[in-house]
Amino acid sequence: MSGLIIGNLTLSSKFILPAIAGFSDVMMRVLCYEYGAALCHTEMVSAKGLIYGGNRSEDLLLTDEREPIKAVQLFGSEPYFIEKAILDQRLKKFDLIDINMGCPVPKVVKNGDGSALMKDPGKAYDVMKAACDVADSRPVTVKMRAGFYQDNQNAVQICELAEKAGVSAVTIHARVRDQYYSGPINFDLIKEAKKQVGIPVIGNGEVKNLDDALEMFEKTRCDGIAVARAAIGKPHIFAELDEKPYDADIFNLMERHTRGLLAVLPEDIVANNMKRHLVSYLKGIKDAKKYKVMITRSNGIDEIFDILGKAKDELKQ
Ligand SMILES: Cc1cc2nc3c(=O)[nH]c(=O)nc-3n(C[C@H](O)[C@H](O)[C@H](O)COP(=O)(O)O)c2cc1C
Repeated sequence: MSGLIIGNLTLSSKFILPAIAGFSDVMMRVLCYEYGAALCHTEMVSAKGLIYGGNRSEDLLLTDEREPIKAVQLFGSEPYFIEKAILDQRLKKFDLIDINMGCPVPKVVKNGDGSALMKDPGKAYDVMKAACDVADSRPVTVKMRAGFYQDNQNAVQICELAEKAGVSAVTIHARVRDQYYSGPINFDLIKEAKKQVGIPVIGNGEVKNLDDALEMFEKTRCDGIAVARAAIGKPHIFAELDEKPYDADIFNLMERHTRGLLAVLPEDIVANNMKRHLVSYLKGIKDAKKYKVMITRSNGIDEIFDILGKAKDELKQ
């Protein structure tokens, strides 16, 4: 399958890793890129938090030279902070800026951020325009939902405003806010957006294998697909989707992911973050449940490595 063009960037395939808070860390992105992901995003970063020196912002902005394209996702609903964040020295290394208009979490929505921006198209436009005005030659993209409300699924309108503001591509997770991460995907809405705008439209929601991807392409005519949950613990999904041959040694991947993070983050943070990844990597191996419980209960990085070593030895027998 050929790639996708977003602004001044030519992507190597049609499959991207969107922002996944708590997961799309620098090593998950490195591994997804190795298996052919075309574009991988950081976890979402608060524009305001970045400016006021929020506690975790710097960790979220870590990048690696093995990332061919560095893409950051910002959230916020105040054009002033979006602008300031994009102009900040710490964001200079990013090749693409993505704006979050999809987050359903109450803490985010109550501030008017994330999916709540879709309730106010005027404000959404101001945020997108502010971002495009200061991004220089770097593409700005937007990741949205079908809409905020079930009875007002206004993604097509937001896509049109995005194009008018100068946005280079849009991703639609075709569910409304209250659906969070389950329930039917509104394929028709992605299809309609694709008809109405000239910029690339990326479909998103429940793509877990090649059949799902082909269904998404066929039903929506979208230009690309974002794959989130199916890539957690399975970076090789990108080779699978692109029908490329690949090798995936789960134990090697778990070790590289963990050691890669240990090189750049404190041990306790890595242990905590890796627990979430490891239970997904372990899916499907023999006695997965036993090891998942052990990992979840583990205390510290040494114990995690012991459990993985034990699992590897036991599986060899
Ligand atoms: C734990 C979790 C965290 C997420 N964090 C973000 C985020 O930071 N920014 C964002 O735009 N979407 C976020 N999403 C939404 C995903 O990017 C994606 O739109 C959604 O999971 C549907 O795609 P999927 O079916 O391929 O998982 C998150 C989803 C999950 C499950």
